[in-house]
Amino acid sequence: MERETHILVITYPLQGHINPMLQFSKRLASKGARVTLVTTSTIRNSMQALQGASSVNIEIISDGSEGDENLENLIATLDRFKVIVSQSLAEYIEKLDSSNYPPKFVVYDFVLPWALDVAKKYGLDGAPFFTQSCAVSVIYYHLKQGTIRLPIEGPTVSLPSLPKLTIDDISSFLSNPSSYPPLLNLALDLFSNFLEAKWLFFSSFMDLELEVVNWMASQQWPIKTIGPTIPSMYLDKRLENDKEYGLHLFKPDVDACIKWLDTKETHSVVYTSFGSLASLGEEQMQELTWGLKNSSCYFLWIVRETEQKKLPTNFLQETAGKGLVVSWCPQLEVLAHKAIGCFMTHCGWNSTLEALSLGVPMVAMPQWTDQLTNAKFIVDVWKVGVRIKLDERGIATKEEIELCIREVIGGERGKEMRGNSIRWKELAKEAMDEGGSSDKNIEDFVAKLVCS
Ligand code: UDX
Repeated sequence: MERETHILVITYPLQGHINPMLQFSKRLASKGARVTLVTTSTIRNSMQALQGASSVNIEIISDGSEGDENLENLIATLDRFKVIVSQSLAEYIEKLDSSNYPPKFVVYDFVLPWALDVAKKYGLDGAPFFTQSCAVSVIYYHLKQGTIRLPIEGPTVSLPSLPKLTIDDISSFLSNPSSYPPLLNLALDLFSNFLEAKWLFFSSFMDLELEVVNWMASQQWPIKTIGPTIPSMYLDKRLENDKEYGLHLFKPDVDACIKWLDTKETHSVVYTSFGSLASLGEEQMQELTWGLKNSSCYFLWIVRETEQKKLPTNFLQETAGKGLVVSWCPQLEVLAHKAIGCFMTHCGWNSTLEALSLGVPMVAMPQWTDQLTNAKFIVDVWKVGVRIKLDERGIATKEEIELCIREVIGGERGKEMRGNSIRWKELAKEAMDEGGSSDKNIEDFVAKLVCS
């Protein structure tokens, strides 16, 4: 039987990690590799909404849970995860070794650096896949190196190849290290063994983070930018050729969203979403509802089922016609819709890249971790959005929300931001097109692996 170059891609079971790693897997498969995306049993029950993905095999290995665990607890339980999953990964590799498709390489989620040790134990090379920006990764690298001392007190932090950052531009657990120890430990762990990896894959693209990518290369890091990791159909509109999208952990309300958007004028809708993990306080939720309502714009708001109890009574009835609230949507399809005027976002890295790649300007409302740095870049480096200012309580008020929405969707600066967004969209497409910087990196990786 024919033996193909088999690559294992191991992803942490969160939506913001699965999405880019699945898209990367598909790109690897399109270059001729056999690819298995490996995730873990926590999401066994929620993963049923798989659409397509036929070019990639999906494998679930045990993390000790049978699919009934709250996803939001995962980060807090990373240590337990490490013990169990390194064992089940080892067993899976052993099983494959005696099959017709022994693995040749392991690409592992950057939050699972120990996966490299498992790969090496079986004589395999490996490479971490970063689902965060190059800029944020460099900040964590400097943390590990001790160039950044904790707690960060400011007023600004200067690091090579990055703009000056204030405390508001850096993960809050660096200015307040005791606020969330698991994340601080994780950030320190990321760079524990990275130079033993064959490559470093980043879900980003050259033009977007040119200075920082060049700095990494100058340090002899084997970096390969391979993004934006979104399906080609959204970059070049060849919809019929690429119907596959992905692996949803929440059930998207596709028809309701798209049919509703179809009835709205071009650039008239604010799309609002805070990703798969962020949870707003009750008070913040109230301000947001009023801010959206007072903006007088149409809005499509994603409120996950676990968050819906925070919506004010009667809100849905009062805003019927003006707004649509659903628990999950096909985000790429929504962002690509002509009715969308701006994206009010928590600035998760995938949401940021998706908006940039689809030419949608943003209202940035970052919540935690890498999102604060992403917001800094959205506003000051890529110039595709405004950032909501928080009041002395740390709340984004309804007045501020309304002001920012109006500025991006209707104001003069909004037009400028839309123009910049279109430019980023073109550059994103160029990177992924045949012969583009990311496409070449993927091709080069597979070609070298085949020859090795
Ligand atoms: C997290 C972090 O925030 C991010 O910065 C990190 O580096 C990866 O994981 P999350 O908070 O969920 O992820 O946000 P984001 O990175 O934006 O990922 C959310 C994904 O879910 C996006 O790919 C988005 O398209 C998708 N999504 C979101 C939907 O498909 N439908 C929705 O309704 C909302």
